[in-house]
Amino acid sequence: RRTTLLGIPMDAGTSVPGARMGPAALRIAGLTTLLRELGHEVEDAGDLPPPEHPFVDMAPQDVAGCRNLEEVAGWTQSIHDRAHALAEQGRLPIFLGGDHALSMGSVSGIARHCKDAGRQLAVLWIDAHADFNTPATTPSRNMHGMSLAFLSGEESLRPLLGDRPLVPLPPEAIHIFGLRSIDTEERRQVQAHGVRAIDMRAIDEQGVAALMRPLIEQWQARDVHLHVSLDVDMLDPSLAPGVGTTVPGGATYREAHLIMEMLHDSGLVGSLDIVELNPFLDERGRSARLLVELVASLFGRTVLDRPPVRMRAF
Ligand code: ARG
Ligand code: MN
Ligand code: MN
Ligand code: MN
Repeated sequence: RRTTLLGIPMDAGTSVPGARMGPAALRIAGLTTLLRELGHEVEDAGDLPPPEHPFVDMAPQDVAGCRNLEEVAGWTQSIHDRAHALAEQGRLPIFLGGDHALSMGSVSGIARHCKDAGRQLAVLWIDAHADFNTPATTPSRNMHGMSLAFLSGEESLRPLLGDRPLVPLPPEAIHIFGLRSIDTEERRQVQAHGVRAIDMRAIDEQGVAALMRPLIEQWQARDVHLHVSLDVDMLDPSLAPGVGTTVPGGATYREAHLIMEMLHDSGLVGSLDIVELNPFLDERGRSARLLVELVASLFGRTVLDRPPVRMRAF
């Protein structure tokens, strides 16, 4: 595949700085070499420069709910433009975060391209959180907790994208995977929108493979462009401590690899975010190294050769 790495050194979506160092840590952990070893073409586009702060025409009571509003809006618009351009060039973009607010730009840019190209978009949001808060519901004012609400067309957040066209994601296009922390009002939002979430209880009861298989089949039947948004905090904090919003009881090493392997075999992945890695909180680079390992599984590393079957043949 023709991949492009784009670093997004932002942490304006959080109150704990450090995720801006994420792109450097992922590169130092060997991401580029590894993708090349797996036979992919890799272009490293470097880091996106910190943006200007645009005027954001948001209602005053909503402004109050958004920490670093203008900075987040600046990032959103510049990431959106790059994501849209990369998708148009037929690249497979890998957005190296940076906090999860970056997905407002990456996914909206990809969504715009998919609409132009007449392709359906599906988003797999691998995360301990739903990121479905709004300026009115947020308990923290952290905008990384609002990205999915924005992408679903939440009106109060619409001004973040300025005059660029927003293609809102319909609820069927979104699956949250690994959910185990949700705020009271946020939960109401998720339910009201009808967004599907696979929580840790479902994973414990049914297992990753049984839950992923029907999703992949449904996406394959529609030949979607699959965007994977991987929040490090979906992993158990004992494996990946380098993140500001740890929640106990996350995915194991083996579950995480299995998700990535099944996504690879689906052949559908068209773009990827790797978000929330905070190297300042990490232990000797282990979270960054684990993430790079997971990317290897997503891009085709296997233990043994496997017959090239598509999932529906199982
Ligand atoms: N729900 C919490 C909030 O709104 C936590 C969000 C965490 N999001 C993340 N991308 N890590 O502040
Ligand atoms: Mn998140
Ligand atoms: Mn276009
Ligand atoms: Mn999270």
